[in-house]
Amino acid sequence: MNKTPLIQWYEKYGRHDLPWRQTSNPYHIYLSEIMLQQTQVKTVLERFYFQFLEKFPTLESLSCATQDEVLKAWEGLGYYTRARNVHKTAQLTKNQLPQTVEELDALPGIGPSTANAIACFAFGACVPILDGNVKRILYRYYKTKVANDKELWALSNKLFKPNENFAYEHNQALMDIGSGICTRTQPKCGICPLNEECSGKSSPLVYPTKKAKKKKEIRERCLVIYTCNHQVALFQNENNLLKGLWSFAQYSDEIDESEYTYKGKIKHEYSHISLRAKVYIKEVKKERFENWFDEQEIEAIALSKADHKALELLS
Ligand code: ADE
Repeated sequence: MNKTPLIQWYEKYGRHDLPWRQTSNPYHIYLSEIMLQQTQVKTVLERFYFQFLEKFPTLESLSCATQDEVLKAWEGLGYYTRARNVHKTAQLTKNQLPQTVEELDALPGIGPSTANAIACFAFGACVPILDGNVKRILYRYYKTKVANDKELWALSNKLFKPNENFAYEHNQALMDIGSGICTRTQPKCGICPLNEECSGKSSPLVYPTKKAKKKKEIRERCLVIYTCNHQVALFQNENNLLKGLWSFAQYSDEIDESEYTYKGKIKHEYSHISLRAKVYIKEVKKERFENWFDEQEIEAIALSKADHKALELLS
């Protein structure tokens, strides 16, 4: 079987040492794909993948964990919906992930591209992928400025066709090229194995057409750390972004500064929101709030990064 330059390149230069490429354990592969959806390889590798698997070595152990424990293991990785979804998936699948694209796609947090990636990497399915990086490669390779997902899937299939006997290598190679060669701002076309047939190589930055950047909402808040006998009051988030994580009280209105002790300011960047908060503390009676934690207890629960920053102002 003839190998295209892409497959030959992957064999020679692919990142074969990535741990999720060194295993056939479907749970490990699944976990890596979810973590890598919105996070860079380096972060996942250095701080989260092994640590998570150490805590939850099997889907079964994950299914038995509490949501607090799962969120704690995800703490700092962000996009916490993913943590709740891997937990739900563990409970739904009873220690065995399904093998087909359709069944994988039906699980919470798994979209069409991740379903294909898991089916391909864990179960040998012969299907292409279409994540953000692959889309950029396709836009450039096919000199396309705008396209919807249906059109992009058609292009992804077209690029895949000559490599369908090497589905695994094809997909992993595109991930490596997307993150290391066909990058958003400084593509290295000179070393790209797709170079010969790439239609966009003379002006890669023109593809795709840049979307106008949405302005981030600047969210100004007063954050209050209520204390009582060396414990602090925390509240479990119910909104989507940080659902399940514990946070200090936040108010959108100014507070009466004479009643609180000002501790300083924090800033934190979320994907769509820029949070700027003035942090205060106030000693109150225990009856006023339900959930109190001392220093040690805080270490066992998941707090958002912003709340950790606020907590640091106390020390
Ligand atoms: N991003 C998403 N999946 C990946 C994989 N398998 N290898 C490297 N980066 C990825």
